[in-house]
Amino acid sequence: MKKASLAQLDPRGRRVLMRVDFNVPMDANRVITDDTRIRAALPSIRHVLDGGGSLVLMSHLGRPKGQIKPEYSLRPVADRLVELVSAPVKFAEDTVGPDAEAKRQGLQPGEILLLENLRFQAGETANEPAFAAALAAHGDVYVNDAFGAAHRAHASTVGAAAHFDERYAGLLMQRELDFLGGLLADPARPFTAILGGAKVEGKVDVMRNLLDRVDYLLLGGGMIFTFFKVAGLSIGDSLLDAASLDIVAQIREQSRSSRGKLILPTDVVVATDFSDRGERQTVLVSDIPDGWQGLDVGPQTVAAFGEIVAGSRSIFWNGPLGVFEIPVFAAGTRALGEAVVRATTAGAVSVVGGGDSVAALNQLGLADRISHISTGGGASLEFMGGRELPGVSALRDA
Ligand code: 3PG
Ligand code: MG
Repeated sequence: MKKASLAQLDPRGRRVLMRVDFNVPMDANRVITDDTRIRAALPSIRHVLDGGGSLVLMSHLGRPKGQIKPEYSLRPVADRLVELVSAPVKFAEDTVGPDAEAKRQGLQPGEILLLENLRFQAGETANEPAFAAALAAHGDVYVNDAFGAAHRAHASTVGAAAHFDERYAGLLMQRELDFLGGLLADPARPFTAILGGAKVEGKVDVMRNLLDRVDYLLLGGGMIFTFFKVAGLSIGDSLLDAASLDIVAQIREQSRSSRGKLILPTDVVVATDFSDRGERQTVLVSDIPDGWQGLDVGPQTVAAFGEIVAGSRSIFWNGPLGVFEIPVFAAGTRALGEAVVRATTAGAVSVVGGGDSVAALNQLGLADRISHISTGGGASLEFMGGRELPGVSALRDA
């Protein structure tokens, strides 16, 4: 279902309450290490300000669990926003308290008020009606541009929206739904999905849903060893997701008759240590020695995956193929990133989601050559898993 878009709103004289996902990574000194999510919200912010409206922005940061924890303050985000947007940015020390109230009342067209971390209030994640109503009082139009948090049924994403007749998808939200929805609805074929990362957990629905939609489902990352274990191979000291053995067996069973072909690595780089200090070698997945652990895919796999990606017209990628943070185990992820970029240059639509795979692409300098980098990790997986996202359902249909 298409959603009503912010592009249709004439913001002149309106006070727009907009949920954004400013949950950005910060280092120990609370310096933002990646401001992609802030930049991604700029088109919606500009649309409102340039059109003569004012903006009340709300976001969460981390998981402070209903307590005021200074290390989770959004103030560094307000400071970064000032640098990125040439407009006055005010910051409220609370969300629905006296400071937010006072600053909102003084807000002029062309100005932004950023509220403090929503999750300093327990009412946010509990979707408490009173908290949602108090948030809703901050605006006369509601916009959700926080695709990354759209899988959460919280006060700012669901409860507050219900108070408005005008409930729009922001321009980023719209773009995310168009790209991801396009892959599910009518992908150019062949359609290849690549899933990596350490854990099976959180990827089960997406594997099951995509197996029947894609032409190829390629798996990498730590989770492959649970598949090898189920297949009866010895995996040495490699990661095992013991709680997922049954579900992995079911996924293998589903893949026998699914539209999509499930393809696992055939060789892996194994090491004696989870670092670059131990010994390393490349082995077939049937030959993982005792005492060694698999930390990347091998060259045979890279070549096979690369060939499938090169022939694909639609590509969805979530999760690195190896422990790319350690350079000696980054080769598989790097090669796949380069293959996805080459396919994109040749005309394929590529969508990459998930913090780690996006970080890998940024590190490799390839991010701007992908059709769409999703700002949602969990949200993009749930969407591709076929789930309705509560934050999307809460918006008005087009
Ligand atoms: C994310 O970073 O995945 C989103 O901002 C959602 O955060 P959450 O997983 O803490 O709800
Ligand atoms: Mg998350």
